[in-house]
Amino acid sequence: MDFKIRVATKEDSKEISRMIMELAVFEKMPDQVKISHEELERDGFCQNPFFECLVAEVPEEHKSKEGFTVVGYALYFYTYSTWKGRSVYLEDLYVMPEFRGNGIGKGLLSKVAEVGKKKQCVRLQLSVLNWNTPSRDFYAAKGAQDLTVTEGWHFIRFDGQNLDNLANEAPKD
Ligand SMILES: CC(C)(COP(=O)(O)OP(=O)(O)OC[C@H]1O[C@@H](n2cnc3c(N)ncnc32)[C@H](O)[C@@H]1OP(=O)(O)O)[C@@H](O)C(=O)NCCC(=O)NCCS
Repeated sequence: MDFKIRVATKEDSKEISRMIMELAVFEKMPDQVKISHEELERDGFCQNPFFECLVAEVPEEHKSKEGFTVVGYALYFYTYSTWKGRSVYLEDLYVMPEFRGNGIGKGLLSKVAEVGKKKQCVRLQLSVLNWNTPSRDFYAAKGAQDLTVTEGWHFIRFDGQNLDNLANEAPKD
């Protein structure tokens, strides 16, 4: 199938927002999505963006049942390893179900790797749910190592009240 991978623009925010929800439904946590397309616009398409995004687009004649031509996305940003240096973190990788198995996911993932390499990143990292074995297999097949297995890392988060509490405990200047 014909498809094109391109850098997302502000005008893609609604499409990205739609697919973020589709991915959250797939991940069985749709209630967790609080982000709006306006926030995506603000955070991704500004002077110092918090993220970058690639989208996969198919020609009009291959549009989805619902009429969408933007059928996949990869959203990523940069992090830093004190051991290795510049890194890229892939927050989301998604291809709509009816377009899977056509090389689009691989295309998006490789493109993120290429973008990262151009910026001298030495790592591409991401998190995947334990039960999502198809995607875990997909990454493993591409040569990724599972750090939980090989190094025992846990993925830690502060948010909501716990984040507020922590911030409120900060020493005053
Ligand atoms: C994971 C995902 C992005 C892959 O996209 P895709 O377009 O279907 O994948 P591709 O067609 O590019 O497949 C690329 C390669 O992976 C292989 N592959 C694809 N799905 C696979 C699976 N479920 N198990 C093992 N290998 C798989 C393909 O055979 C292909 O191998 P090849 O390079 O030897 O030909 C897509 O399935 C998806 O959106 N899944 C749901 C959301 C998700 O889990 N995202 C990741 C969250 S971390």
